Amino acid sequence: MAFLELKGVSKGFGTFGHRTEVLRDLDLSVERGEFVAIVGYSGSGKTTLINLIAGLQLPDSGTVSINDLEVTGPGPDRGIVFQNYSLLPWLTVRENIALAVDQLFPNWSAARKRQHIDHHVGLVGLSHAVDRRPAELSGGMRQRVSVARALAMDPQVLLLDEPLGALDALTRATLQDEIGRIGSASGKTIVLITNDPDEGILMADRIIPLGAGPGATLGPSIVVDLERPRDRKALNHDPRFKAIRAEIVRWLLGPGAHKSTSVSRKLVLPDLEPEDLDLPRTLFGVKRVARRRSEQVRENIELR
Ligand SMILES: Nc1ncnc2c1ncn2[C@@H]1O[C@H](COP(=O)(O)OP(=O)(O)O)[C@@H](O)[C@H]1O
Ligand SMILES: [Mg+2]
Repeated sequence: MAFLELKGVSKGFGTFGHRTEVLRDLDLSVERGEFVAIVGYSGSGKTTLINLIAGLQLPDSGTVSINDLEVTGPGPDRGIVFQNYSLLPWLTVRENIALAVDQLFPNWSAARKRQHIDHHVGLVGLSHAVDRRPAELSGGMRQRVSVARALAMDPQVLLLDEPLGALDALTRATLQDEIGRIGSASGKTIVLITNDPDEGILMADRIIPLGAGPGATLGPSIVVDLERPRDRKALNHDPRFKAIRAEIVRWLLGPGAHKSTSVSRKLVLPDLEPEDLDLPRTLFGVKRVARRRSEQVRENIELR
């Protein structure tokens, strides 16, 4: 059994009768120390998938397990970095991280905690800003703090939910390199969610595309057999990089990623019947007018 396992996981939202299945029958295996990227459309259920692994939501059917233990709630063995930075604005960088460290390692001495925090702040290159508050940091710096906080919790699994999505292209590129480097150096098991195939290829060991919803399913597992460190400029001309990207995009654009579902909807048509201009204006002495009718028609339509 792999370190992180999803077996037959489905999850939907809404009440009975208006329920939308977001994820359908997902199987996923991630080995210890592996860096896997899930690449998918916006709204396809990527955050839902991360929430299920994090234990913030529970599947309708199927199981999520880590190290052979079923996930039944959130826990410190899984560190999460969200797309929005989720830092407390009135606390400094050090205090934001201390909040997590104090809770997880209550028995450590103050000096040890401080050294642990400063080490992780240094890891993301923010030593100079350790006493600043979030408002005094750029978006990229805030996201570095989130990464440092997640790493300082020393989790077994690092869950990254589109962590770089809100950043400008240049900052994004820098952080892709940094997180890729820190990730592989830490030896942690990492699941990265992204909507950018290139980001996945640059950072991960393996990529799994997630199809469009509703009822999104995971595609084939694509191994990124490119040497590290990966140089984004050189990669652009690398035939293997192009082949991997083509494979991901082909699946995401192909029929496997777009399930069509048949739904029954009540359509309310305009209360009017068009006039047939072929008929004479007057019929049997009665002047013809466009007729109204009141009716509702039930039809089956295909949604894509
Ligand atoms: N708590 C919820 N209640 C109802 N619908 C939800 C909830 N969370 C997500 N959804 C719906 O599930 C779908 C997938 O959402 P999400 O997992 O956030 O997608 P992604 O992260 O890929 O953009 C969306 O259609 C969203 O509206
Ligand atoms: Mg999301």
